[in-house]
Amino acid sequence: MCGIMGYIGQQHTQEILTNGLKKLEYRGYDSVGVAIHDGEAVQVTKAEGRLDNLASRLEDAPLQGSIGIGHTRWATHGRPSDENSHPHTDSEETEFAVVHNGIIENYIELKQELVAEGATFTSETDSEVIAHLLTKLYDGDVVSTIQKVVEKLDGAYALGVVSRHTPGKLYAVRQASPLIIGSGNGENFISSDIPAVLEHTRDVYILEDGEMAVLTEESISLMDVRTGNSISRDLFRVDWDMEQAEKNGFDHFMLKEIFEQPKALEKTMAGRVDKETNEVDFPELAWTEEQVAKWDKVHIVACGTAYHAGLLGKAAIEELTRTPVDVEVASEFRYRNPIVNENTLVIAVSQSGETADTLAALRQSKELGAKTLSITNVVGSSISREADDVILTLAGPEIAVASTKAYTTQVLSFYLLGIYLAQKKKQITPEQNAQYMAALQEVPEQMEEILFHNDEIKEYGESIKDAKSVFFLGRGIDTAVALEGSLKLKEISYIHSEAYAAGELKHGTLALIEEGTPIISLLTQEKLYDKMLGNIKEVSARGANVLGVTMRGNVKVTQYVDETCFIPETYSLFTPLLSVLPLQLISYYTSLALGNDVDKPRNLAKSVTVE
Ligand code: F6R
Repeated sequence: MCGIMGYIGQQHTQEILTNGLKKLEYRGYDSVGVAIHDGEAVQVTKAEGRLDNLASRLEDAPLQGSIGIGHTRWATHGRPSDENSHPHTDSEETEFAVVHNGIIENYIELKQELVAEGATFTSETDSEVIAHLLTKLYDGDVVSTIQKVVEKLDGAYALGVVSRHTPGKLYAVRQASPLIIGSGNGENFISSDIPAVLEHTRDVYILEDGEMAVLTEESISLMDVRTGNSISRDLFRVDWDMEQAEKNGFDHFMLKEIFEQPKALEKTMAGRVDKETNEVDFPELAWTEEQVAKWDKVHIVACGTAYHAGLLGKAAIEELTRTPVDVEVASEFRYRNPIVNENTLVIAVSQSGETADTLAALRQSKELGAKTLSITNVVGSSISREADDVILTLAGPEIAVASTKAYTTQVLSFYLLGIYLAQKKKQITPEQNAQYMAALQEVPEQMEEILFHNDEIKEYGESIKDAKSVFFLGRGIDTAVALEGSLKLKEISYIHSEAYAAGELKHGTLALIEEGTPIISLLTQEKLYDKMLGNIKEVSARGANVLGVTMRGNVKVTQYVDETCFIPETYSLFTPLLSVLPLQLISYYTSLALGNDVDKPRNLAKSVTVE
């Protein structure tokens, strides 16, 4: 987590840094700071809290100069405070200033050694050791000094460094935390993510682990940080628009991203369906029938919302191909001894493509000989580069911390993948194929219909804002959607919520149901309607207030629930693409009614690059 921004050039450095940090705030927003080289000295200004706090300090005392680094923090070591904010420096004279994203695992040993040698630390962070090491090991050449420092660091780090000794150079290093270099005209940039540089340039280098970049106004040199050997690489041209990373008239990114789902699904589907045969084709996979036949097990690894998409991936792949699928949260998978081998297909799902646990699970699977596939939304991300194959969800940049369009495009990708695998295994008839594809192609329009009834959902969302606890119930694949609805609600409204397989309620959780407890129950699976109605009766009898989310036409449910939200009919496997929309909107409006910061919920960050 944490966002890094760096600039070298003749424009207004302070403004470029703070504007870039604004776009990176989704990565963390506990505190923020900048360091700017004014030609003689490096000046640092930082502040606990949001960018506004820093902005008001900078307004009082603006910083001038043509090289700078900035940082927006998600606290790992040390609480959010002015002192723990980045950039960190070695001393008041600031020979070196450094911004860091990641965790230095051996910082305690390094700190003890430095303190014993006389260094004075001003923060509780792991990152400060880097600034002190730079000063201690400085040998007259900043590049070789950085190389020596990196030798001593264990852990993950993306670094931006400015040095008083080199007023014309900016340095960047990447090891297991993302970093890109933006190439401009007479100016260059470093950043944790593309949106922060997009208003200046579309040409970027994506740094790999173990690489360093040295930037001047006119040049960018890439090198292997350990050997110093130079690296040549083509620039990557970003082909999506800045507009996609702006709010476009919506009050929040989350609402905008919810409304972008019909288009995101269309894009993710386009190019993957053969218009003549209606068959699914993934040109990026080109798997042979023999290859597919070899995989006797599929393992899906992911975290959070992506894990919930994985649960639906399991349902789709098992239903369509009858191949057993395990789904596991990546942080558990990586510390087990998973049964994965060359006959396993491991699918790592990650919007950002940078989640540390998912990346580690992917690497472990590769070591165990599995074939690996990633489903990610970010081109050039670590997970997309390290997996054997990649399916890109074409949702466009997702800025709100709460994931919405990434989830539905991940789920859609699983449906397409399930159909693709079934085709390769000859387990699907052309008629079934046509039926599935017709249903999927209708989904974007059906989503529009749900979004059109936004106002009714808004009222319900506002009505539960004072609830102590909200429960989500489902059976079968509805349980997976209930989990996602519950996660969305708790992360942005801070209301306690649980999702349950409805049949499990009476084994303990029913004790929590009280008069007025809101229950959001999903009834999209026809064969389970009656079972769900039975469970609804159980909670209603204990005074719960029940909202039923069900398919249009299932009027029977209205007799059992307090309120109903109807969604258009689709093939039973695909209902999550529709039923999740009201749940996303409910959480949005509940959070809004509570006056929360919807896009940046407390304690969270968009990209979790620490384990
Ligand atoms: C919740 C949410 C998180 C992410 C999780 C994994 O709304 O966004 O639960 O899904 O942190 O992130 P990625 O998909 O980037 O690996």
